[in-house]
Amino acid sequence: MQDNETNAPVPQAGGTWSGRFGEPVAEIVKRYTASVGFDRRLALFDIRGSVAHARMLHAVGILSREDWEAIERGLSSVADDVRAGRFEWSLDLEDVHLNIERRLTERIGEAGKRLHTGRSRNDQVATDVRLFLREALDDLAELARRVQVALLDLAEHHAATVMPGFTHLQVAQPVSFGHHLMAYFEMLDRDIGRLVDCRTRMNRLPLGAAALAGTSYPIDREMVARELGFDGVCENSLDAVSDRDFAIEFSGAASLLMVHLSRMSEELILWMSPRFGFIDLADRFCTGSSIMPQKKNPDVPELIRGKTGRVVGHLMALLMLMKSQPLAYNKDNQEDKEPLFDVVDTLAQTLAILADMLRGITVHPEAMRAAARQGFATATDLADYLVKRGVPFRDAHEAVARAVRHAEAQGCDLADLPLETLRGFCDKIEADVYQVLTLEGALDARNHVGGTAPVQVRAAIARARQRLAAGG
Ligand code: ARG
Repeated sequence: MQDNETNAPVPQAGGTWSGRFGEPVAEIVKRYTASVGFDRRLALFDIRGSVAHARMLHAVGILSREDWEAIERGLSSVADDVRAGRFEWSLDLEDVHLNIERRLTERIGEAGKRLHTGRSRNDQVATDVRLFLREALDDLAELARRVQVALLDLAEHHAATVMPGFTHLQVAQPVSFGHHLMAYFEMLDRDIGRLVDCRTRMNRLPLGAAALAGTSYPIDREMVARELGFDGVCENSLDAVSDRDFAIEFSGAASLLMVHLSRMSEELILWMSPRFGFIDLADRFCTGSSIMPQKKNPDVPELIRGKTGRVVGHLMALLMLMKSQPLAYNKDNQEDKEPLFDVVDTLAQTLAILADMLRGITVHPEAMRAAARQGFATATDLADYLVKRGVPFRDAHEAVARAVRHAEAQGCDLADLPLETLRGFCDKIEADVYQVLTLEGALDARNHVGGTAPVQVRAAIARARQRLAAGG
């Protein structure tokens, strides 16, 4: 296309900035630089930001009442189109911001061209992403709380269910299954805390920074911040347009959360293997094999484990994205969106499915108990018993180690050895030793805050429920 008077090519990229250029952008470059394919997801946040900006422009006397009203009406009808899926996105218009602004102008004329007064896409996009992430953070925290509640319910059921506790994946000491589950509740509690923290630091308004240095118009940033529910404004305009800490911080918190869920998944997978046989997952969370008819595979926890790598990968991508950027805005920043969106989506799906899956777990307490007995899980209790009878701990440890070796050779548990045999290892042993050699005895003995005694587990669950009810 040629301009008749100047013989120059007619600007193509929406005419938004292309007046300066002598030739249209190459097709391949257009595709390479456009973000509308993914940032259209920000559309409604972009419109919210524009509504607040226009209101402020009117309040300070930059926009006439008619223009402001036309803009509000126009933006609201554009928002309707977006919601209804009627909006036709154009690659020629590069990104979500230019697409919406162009549509607005097509709809309301001149007034639409006044909306961009005193702002830049640089502070605009920084605002949009923060609005998006703020909402996502609230949803994710809520989903994480649902997993916590599922854990609490299962733990409550199994406060007195005995399982082997492991160190080095070797049977160590008996623990309550409920206690084990509550460890994950605690991890999630910290994860939610990190999400909430991140929200607080993020909730500041970049708008007003314009391209990088601020704007010469008498804008009221505080007003826009209030309108959009920000706690205040970003203090420094250069920082406001170039900072993506919030995306990194969020992805960091999300990565750690996924690592916790991955550890939990790994345990579910182990526990479901016939070698353990501690639990069974509901059929709806498993799949079969196309060749082995007997298989029931724990695909969901395996995928949670796998998707953890994906989320951590996005965190790395965001860190690398920032590491060499000079101030202030650079186009690199456009690359923040796809990883960020994917972290949000992966986390949301994972948390939702996990909460459901936990509710569909069948527990096999007999298998847990049998595993605890096989591993001499009460050996420490026997040593403690001797110490309470005056034997130095190191000597007690040695005596019990010999007893374990003997029991192992006999193929039985410590509790199965006759009193006479036990006394052969230490003459301080009396008939009451069998109380400490039982699994229940070992659990009950650890009766302090944070311990595995069922009464403590129930108290911990009650405190946890209170914390949840108080809003985390
Ligand atoms: N699509 C851009 C992004 O996501 C919007 C900001 C573009 N600003 C610019 N000066 N090219 O970052």
